[in-house]
Amino acid sequence: MTHKRITKENPYKICFVCLGNICRSPTAEGVFQHLVNERGLQAYFEVDSAGTSSYHIGEPANSKSRLTAEKYGVSLLSTARQLKAFDLGYYDLILAMDRENLANIREMTPDQGRMAQIGLLRDFDPEPGDGEVPDPYFGGMQGFEHVFQIVKRSCEAILDELETRIADHAS
Ligand code: 4NP
Repeated sequence: MTHKRITKENPYKICFVCLGNICRSPTAEGVFQHLVNERGLQAYFEVDSAGTSSYHIGEPANSKSRLTAEKYGVSLLSTARQLKAFDLGYYDLILAMDRENLANIREMTPDQGRMAQIGLLRDFDPEPGDGEVPDPYFGGMQGFEHVFQIVKRSCEAILDELETRIADHAS
């Protein structure tokens, strides 16, 4: 994670990335934004997600992902899009859900001098397992629940760390 000071004028930009941008990364975007909102930190963060593939461009999040998130009061509002070279220069941090997506992001060339920090979401998971968020797409509800719990733990840890970088935050 970069050591950027986070201010309202210079908010921290984070983008979560999976293959289709309909299951894992929309869950991460929704959970992270929910935590930001709960902590009243909306002015300090810009949150987004994208897919490395073009398979599902324009689609809402998967219904099983949405149903699982709603159980915990989290709304998934994203529309699937494909990660583009611009994003690599725009975001401060790009977090991939698995190593294949990480490798595909690293193969992309940014269109600016500046480069986002790129890593795996589960680098921040206190229970990192094999380091990947498993693809739930072809399985049942249990897989989506598992994804949600991994994402929740990881996003809480990420925001705990980033909250300490907020330069002008009172609490
Ligand atoms: P996601 O899940 O990468 O978490 O959005 C998938 C979505 C679609 C496909 C695979 C994984 N697919 O093969 O179409």
